[in-house]
Order: sequence, then C-alpha cells, then structure tokens
Amino acid sequence: MSAYKLLLLPGDGIGPEISAEAEKVIDFLGQAGVAKFEVERGLVGGSAYDAHGVAISEGDMALAQAADAVLLAAVGGPKWDGVPYDVRPEAGLLRLRKDLALFANLRPAICYPALADASSLKRELVDGLDIMIVRELTGGVYFGEPKEVVTLENGEKRAVDTQVYTTHEIERIGRVAFELARKRNNKVTSSEKANVMKSGHLWREVITALHKREYPDVKLEHMLADALGMQLVRWPKQFDVICTDNLFGDMLSDVASMLTGSLGMLPSASLGAADASGKRHAMYEPCHGSAPDIAGKGIANPIAMIGSLGMALRYSFDNAKAADAIDNAIAGVLAKGLRTIDIKGDAPTSISTAQMGDAIVAELKTILA
Ligand code: NAD
Ligand code: IPM
Ligand code: MN
Repeated sequence: MSAYKLLLLPGDGIGPEISAEAEKVIDFLGQAGVAKFEVERGLVGGSAYDAHGVAISEGDMALAQAADAVLLAAVGGPKWDGVPYDVRPEAGLLRLRKDLALFANLRPAICYPALADASSLKRELVDGLDIMIVRELTGGVYFGEPKEVVTLENGEKRAVDTQVYTTHEIERIGRVAFELARKRNNKVTSSEKANVMKSGHLWREVITALHKREYPDVKLEHMLADALGMQLVRWPKQFDVICTDNLFGDMLSDVASMLTGSLGMLPSASLGAADASGKRHAMYEPCHGSAPDIAGKGIANPIAMIGSLGMALRYSFDNAKAADAIDNAIAGVLAKGLRTIDIKGDAPTSISTAQMGDAIVAELKTILA
C-alpha cells in the first residue's frame, strides 16, 4: 500500500488538541494496515504568525502544494486581534484555499440518531437529517476586487468588499452539486439573493441553464438565502444538496451545524479541479473555528476533525473502507452515550477531548477487527 502524503496544520486554539486525536486515528489506521499516511506538519494562522510573522510561510505553502491532501484544524483567536490585516490568522486559511484553487467546499450536516436530542430543534425535525451544503469557496465577496479601505477627502473612511461571480465559477460549483445530488436524493436547492444582487441574478440564470442542459433528471429548486436560513430551522429535512456562494455558505453551514447537535460535529472537504494527470488539491477541515472560549481546557469535541480525516480518505484517497469505518466509529461512540460537553444534552456526564479520541479508536478497533 502506498502512503498518503498528508500535511497536518494544527493551527490555533483548540486546533492542536483536536489534531492530536486525529493523529491517534491516523496511527491506528496505519497499524491496522487499512491506510498508511506519511504525515508532515506545518504552521498556519496565529501560530505561523508568532513563528514567522506571516499567516503561512512559503515553506509550508510548498508542502501544501506537494501534499496529496492538507488536514487543517482551526485558526484565529483574540491573541492576534491587533495584527495587521494581511497577516491575520484567517489569511493563512484563505491563501491555502485560493492558491490550491479549492473552489468546492462540501459541508455535510448529518444528525446521528443518538444526537437527535442534543439539537436545539425538536427531535422529530432533525432525526435522520442528512444535508450536503456545497459552498463555493474561492470567489464571491471573500476574494472580489477591489477590497480596500480608502480615506475620503472629508477624512471619513470607506471600506469596500466586492461580490463577483463569473459564469465559469457558478457553473463548476453547480456541476459539483448536481453530481453529488445524483448519488444522494437527487435534489438541489440553489440559493442566492437574485432579487437584490446582480451576482445572485447571474447565479440563478447559470444554474437554471446548466440544469436544463446537463441535469434535467435532478430536481432543482431556487430559494432566496434569507428564506433558506428560515427553512433550515423550520423544516430542515426538506433539503438534500444546498448549493450556494462563499458567504451564504459560510453562514448557512454554521446554522445547519446546530441541527446536528453542535458546531463541533461538522467536517468539511475543500476540493480543487483535477489536472490532466487526474491529481487534484484538497484540504479537509472542521467547519468550526479555534473556539478560544474553551481552548486549553481539553474539552473540545474532536469529531469534526476526525470526520474531516474520514472525508480525506473518501475524497482524496479513495479508501471508502477506512472512511466508512470512521463514520461508523463516530456513530458507535455516540450510540454508547459518550459525549463531549458541547453535545452533552441530558447525558449525565461528559468526557474529555482525549477520551473521545480514545473511544473512537477503540470503536475502530472493533469495527476493523
Ligand atoms: P468558533 O467556531 O471558534 O466557536 C463558536 C462556538 O462554538 C464557541 O462557543 C466554541 O466553544 C464552540 N465550538 C466550536 N468548535 C467546537 C468544538 N470542536 N467543540 C466544542 N465546542 C466548539 O467561532 P468563533 O468563536 O466565532 O471564532 C473563533 C476564531 O476562529 C476566530 O478567529 C475565527 O476567525 C476563527 N475561525 C476559524 C475557522 C477555521 O479555521 N476554519 C472557522 C471558523 C472560525
Ligand atoms: C469557515 C471560517 C472561515 C470562513 C474564516 C475563518 C476565514 O468561518 O471556514 O467557515 O469564513 O470561510
Ligand atoms: Mn465559518
């Protein structure tokens, strides 16, 4: 078995704590002969700033370019609130996404049966929930130019972010959504603000044409992003695949995460386009951030991080056996009632980050025995 070249970027806050648990899984899968990894480590975010004065060094960017996949935990935190905008922790993450051309961000929101009571919604609304949010990740207002602050003649400041989408950018993310829907429940809900924004209007036009031309067999609906936010908490099981832009996708996936019990549950895959040799860059990361409020306490939920490793096995390494085993191990520990504090609900006690990692490895041992 050839080794998967993985660049691990623990980052900041709870990042190193949840990375340690993913490493336990990596080590176990290697020992069990199910997946062999060659792991390099690097710095991103505030930890890179402290070491090098930048949010990611050129050396670590080169490692990311050379890796089969990047596994990133989280960046950011109040410690770096005062650093210059261009080298703030989040700039490292955004550079990785842009330079590796990771335009397609897959954020699955799955409510494990054992967690239906941990959600902030009623059990019947979330039990069995399985939504895939497909978020465009390299365009829109995150990267549009101009992006600047200018001082006006009267001394006032004017800050500008630009929302831009081209036909090509919309079409390729739409294609990802339709292809995924065909393997799931065959429905795409495309979301924008076509009623207000030019880019939203083009988005709807391009998705409609793509659907008609290439995916008439998939059910397509359009929903304005504000209404979609409301529907997510009213009746989330109406959704299968949601296809949306960079900013709406960011917000809607945090909303969707609470349906599953906690933001600490949502993994993600950020995928690029395949080159002529079939190789494509990819980065895997939890949807949550560095959780400064609980960092250093050993209580963070490592499930989104371990689930992101599972997504790497599925989408980059074509190892469905290992990926399924991870998903089943997560479901298994939850079914046994093991809970970190964020998903505790009515459970009598909660366990630590390390105990959750150990429990998932123990469950994996049984599954793969
Ligand atoms: P956050 O996601 O870090 O935390 C929001 C809330 O969710 C907090 O109460 C936190 O304790 C909780 N939470 C998050 N992950 C958890 C986990 N695994 N287990 C248990 N509880 C968890 O969002 P924030 O507080 O708005 O942002 C903090 C920093 O993280 C900011 O600097 C932000 O830019 C950054 N951020 C980074 C990423 C990333 O690296 N991908 C994503 C989002 C936010
Ligand atoms: C996420 C985060 C990032 C984003 C930040 C940290 C740049 O919120 O991955 O969801 O806005 O995309
Ligand atoms: Mn976010």
